[in-house]
Amino acid sequence: MTTLAVCPGSYDPITLGHLDVVRRSLTFVDEVVIAVAHNPAKRSLFSVEERVDLAQRAAEELGLAGVTAEPVDGLLADFVRARGATMIVKGLRGSGDFEAERTMALLNRHMSGVETVFVMGDQGLNHVASSYVKEMAEFGAQLTGLVPEVVRTALVAAYEGERT
Ligand code: PNS
Repeated sequence: MTTLAVCPGSYDPITLGHLDVVRRSLTFVDEVVIAVAHNPAKRSLFSVEERVDLAQRAAEELGLAGVTAEPVDGLLADFVRARGATMIVKGLRGSGDFEAERTMALLNRHMSGVETVFVMGDQGLNHVASSYVKEMAEFGAQLTGLVPEVVRTALVAAYEGERT
């Protein structure tokens, strides 16, 4: 039986921190779906279609086999049930992430019966967050080591007009 992990997030945009969690998930499941979902609490820079495309190309850039990126249209619980997912996998950077993640994990289990498994990301990528990466891109900072090349190019293009 093929095991499938769904790694959900807003991915606006995907970072090397997110991809580290995907890579670690592939050590205990056969396939990973990077599920690009809407977070009503966040205003996004990239459209869902752009975020899916960037996530797919980023996984390819890093040579991660068995990974696809897909949009989540509605509740994550419905998505994981429809896909027959074995588990939801999320990365934890530190205690700041914990409370919100705990609540989401319990609600998703209540709605779908699917468990959420948490993995600790690479310590060297602990500081990488999409929100700060966007802020850095906006002010022309160096993004190497934080995001894959496809994402760096997309971020530079997104803010190019604003700085010229
Ligand atoms: O990267 P984020 O913004 O922390 O991810 C949060 C996300 C997108 C995974 C969460 O908002 C989500 O699951 N959204 C889909 C809609 C949904 O199922 N909401 C109920 C969550 S219990």
